[in-house]
Amino acid sequence: IKRSFSSSAVRNVVIKNVTIIGGGQMGAGIAQVAASTGHSVTLVDMTDDILKKAMKGIQSSLRRVVKKTFSGDPESGDDFIQKVMQNVSTSTEPSAAIATSDLILEAIVENMKIKQDLFGFLDKMAPEHTIFASNTSSLPISDIASATSRPDRCAGLHFFNPVPLMKLVEVIATTSTSPETSESLLNFTKALGKTPVCCKFLNPCLFLSAGHASKEDIDTGMKLGAGYPMGPFELSDYVGLDTIKFIMDGGKKEPDNPIFAPSELLNKLVAEGKLGKKTLEGFYKYN
Ligand code: CAA
Ligand code: NAD
Repeated sequence: IKRSFSSSAVRNVVIKNVTIIGGGQMGAGIAQVAASTGHSVTLVDMTDDILKKAMKGIQSSLRRVVKKTFSGDPESGDDFIQKVMQNVSTSTEPSAAIATSDLILEAIVENMKIKQDLFGFLDKMAPEHTIFASNTSSLPISDIASATSRPDRCAGLHFFNPVPLMKLVEVIATTSTSPETSESLLNFTKALGKTPVCCKFLNPCLFLSAGHASKEDIDTGMKLGAGYPMGPFELSDYVGLDTIKFIMDGGKKEPDNPIFAPSELLNKLVAEGKLGKKTLEGFYKYN
């Protein structure tokens, strides 16, 4: 059977019109950044009161931003805020916005059933080219995408809080996400002025050994997303991989705790005498 979504799977969508569902702290923050970078945004939530609060929050966050970026030129700062606010509209009835959206980004409550219901509903309304993304912190994107007929155009787009300040965005592709969808989302996050990293799953640290994220992406993620001065691989090299191996081996008392799952790569590096910075080679090379 020819799958109905195959024709658009090869399209590279340039994202200009964005609908954000959920105007809480994440949705409002993403709307602010998208509008600030010239995208046309519709923010959707369940009541006008919530949306009013979201718009007020965006305005006061913008004031904090322009205080720095337009310091000494408050008039230009005010103009900027006005222009940004004009790029955002709000709605409790999203069908018109959905019909012209290149991207629909979901930032509603962290509940699988509610997200699946939303994605199923959106799938019936949105144009064929529209990409769906979820900002979920912990739920499998493939399960959310399974409620649609377009899993090739579904992905995770995981922003960090507070969105206007945090530079990192994880672009999470499932095994069904098309390369064109990932590419469109990478370009979108770059257009937002953010630094994207590609992941196949959330919590990428646990998946390095299975090859699902590179050590560079994981280190970038922890530095830009979690504010750590060093990523876990840089830090391990700094501590010494022999010491790290001792710590890991000590965790054998907790065989069911995945944090202490044995790492073949770590064991190999230690066996080869590559102990990190002190031997000028570990996960990384130093000179
Ligand atoms: N919008 C615009 N500007 C903001 C802002 C916002 N929402 N929040 C803070 N700022 C600005 C302030 O105006 C202030 O600017 P100045 O330096 O010019 O005064 C600056 O940021 C610092 O703010 P504060 O003085 O209020 O407070 P702070 O120094 O403690 O910084 C913080 C606040 C940036 C949030 C900092 O505490 C921080 O980085 N915390 C860690 C954040 C983090 O780890 N986020 C990831 C969470 S995990 C996640 O998001 C994923 C998930 O799935 C759960
Ligand atoms: P929030 O509670 O601040 O906002 C959620 C908003 O979604 C609320 O305004 C609610 O009214 C609205 N909503 C719920 N169901 C809806 C529906 N069916 N249709 C329209 N609107 C609906 O939550 P948040 O902190 O913004 O988190 C949103 C999502 O982002 C969650 O999936 C969360 O896991 C994820 N996330 C949160 C953070 C964080 O630090 N808070 C960071 C990254 C990702």
